[in-house]
Amino acid sequence: MTAFDPGEVIAVADAATLARTAADRVLARIAANSGRIAICLTGGSSPKQLYELLATEAYRSKIPWDRVHWFIGDERFVPTSDAGNNMAMARCMFLDRLAPASNIHPIPTDVASPDESAARYERELKSFYGADALDGGRPLFDVVLMGAGPDGHTASLFPGYPAVEETRRWVVGVPQANVEPFVPRVSLTLPTLASCHEMLFEAAVAGKRAILTRVFSGENLPAARARSNGQTVWLVDKAALPEGFRGS
Ligand code: 6PG
Repeated sequence: MTAFDPGEVIAVADAATLARTAADRVLARIAANSGRIAICLTGGSSPKQLYELLATEAYRSKIPWDRVHWFIGDERFVPTSDAGNNMAMARCMFLDRLAPASNIHPIPTDVASPDESAARYERELKSFYGADALDGGRPLFDVVLMGAGPDGHTASLFPGYPAVEETRRWVVGVPQANVEPFVPRVSLTLPTLASCHEMLFEAAVAGKRAILTRVFSGENLPAARARSNGQTVWLVDKAALPEGFRGS
């Protein structure tokens, strides 16, 4: 175990407040950038309320949709028609109604394999970024949204899998998942996810307390190792907050 520094921990009263706080942070990051903006979304259930909120008038009217590009941190290798497809969920919840199609950057799943999908998405990210190597002073993303799974995975980086140690590739194919749905995945790697102004974890349900206790105690878990080169923020429902972490 190593001492774990979660960055900033914000404890909130309930899931609705958590989604509002996340949406306000996303808006603040958008407002801070007068140029092209890149936001990396996540799958799972935690961000659903946030996506719903971004589609409401109060938020949608404040987003310069033509300047914001939407990526996804990991994908289940299933067709876009499958309910488990992460980007399809985000598209259905808000993107398809609001974002120009050319600003939506899904991980392709209509290709031969997760490795091919990863290679293609890596090329797309590099072309968007305009370089083949990430520069510490010029983050790829404004915001990277994240979640923590029951085994301590984040994105589709599962504990003990080689993908967690990958430092050269930007995106990797993950042949097998450690949790449901048990389908192959494609995931951005830790250095790629780290290349952001803000990494924002959402832990919205009391059931997250057990895994957050392990993560915050410094266990060697992907969710503990994922950190922004800029600011890392954990937005946690207070019922899920581990003992000893008061949050702000
Ligand atoms: C995925 C996600 C994954 C998720 C966590 C938390 O594809 O499943 O990107 O990393 O964020 O599993 O999921 P919940 O929000 O559903 O708890």
